Amino acid sequence: MLLDENPSATNQFMYAEGVPFSSIGMASSTWDRRHILSLADFTPLEYDTVLQTAVSFQEVLSRRTKKVPTLQGQVVTNLFFEPSTRTRSSFELAAKRLSADILNFTSGSSSLTKGETILDTAKTYLAMGTDMMVIRHKEAGVPQAIAAEMDRLDVKVSVLNAGDGLHEHPSQALLDLFTICTLLDPEKPHLSLLKGKKIAIVGDILHSRVARSNIWSLTASGAEVHLAGPPTLLPKLFADFVTADGNILHSSPSSLDRKLFLHWSLEPALRDADFVMTLRLQKERMTNHLLPSLREYHHQFGITRERLKFCHPTVKVLHPGPVNRGVEINSDLMDDPQFSLISQQVTSGVAVRMALLYLMGMSRV
Ligand code: NCD
Repeated sequence: MLLDENPSATNQFMYAEGVPFSSIGMASSTWDRRHILSLADFTPLEYDTVLQTAVSFQEVLSRRTKKVPTLQGQVVTNLFFEPSTRTRSSFELAAKRLSADILNFTSGSSSLTKGETILDTAKTYLAMGTDMMVIRHKEAGVPQAIAAEMDRLDVKVSVLNAGDGLHEHPSQALLDLFTICTLLDPEKPHLSLLKGKKIAIVGDILHSRVARSNIWSLTASGAEVHLAGPPTLLPKLFADFVTADGNILHSSPSSLDRKLFLHWSLEPALRDADFVMTLRLQKERMTNHLLPSLREYHHQFGITRERLKFCHPTVKVLHPGPVNRGVEINSDLMDDPQFSLISQQVTSGVAVRMALLYLMGMSRV
């Protein structure tokens, strides 16, 4: 559906100066996902809907008045039970740009310290009229449990997983996808632009929910995804996740021909790669000694200009942040716009999160 085809929707999305919010077709009528919890079962059409919707919001963000009344009167609550800089701020700004009222919960200063359960905290925000909850927690499954409770209560509240333990971080993978696809086609980014591209994901895969979500999205595109890390951070359990010929087990939709490869050294993953995603060493999640030293890790898996010579000449480097400068990536490479998409990822995050809040809002009407 074109937004402009629906008169009531057009009014709702009018920009204050009378400029329509978008004349780009946003296939929101095909969107019926109330919650965004995982990318495991995302379809190519859903990826393309997110990408196209984010382009429209990127256009809004380039205007002088960077705001639309799309979610006016709605309450978005950020429930972050774990520290965050960019994800929480990015959702807050996205909600504000959509004119929602935003509540920010941080666990350290909350009634959790008085013994309140997580579910009761969520219900407290529900009782205040929350329409959408953006949830981060150090345990996998918490956003799913809260979404199930909202469904059981039949309250039509949307839940978005902003990172649950080691499990998934869908909005980060979607903004990574948007960053890459808009580089390839700024006007019409779509999933199949990545078909045949080689993407290396390097580092602490074991502890990375970002890697897990990116594996789903990037393999859905037809790209070849190559994971590289030391055996302690890229354990055999990932080998169980993929079959010997590289296909992911239990992949859904099963029609997708996913290509995923594992390497315990860097060079085969980097060779001719079009994109390299580096991941933070998540020291706070490491329960025992998984690495000899940070220096040794950098020596073996750190991304440097020298190592990028193995890649395709137009290679670009991504990192979800926060970065351990000089560990997973060389410090000046990180700031070099010829190679680094890191600040672009942060910028893209706002438009993509606006798209996700908008689409979840559409699924509830
Ligand atoms: C990631 C996360 O929290 O999972 N960061 C983020 O959301 N930008 C990755 C990380 O913490 O290393």
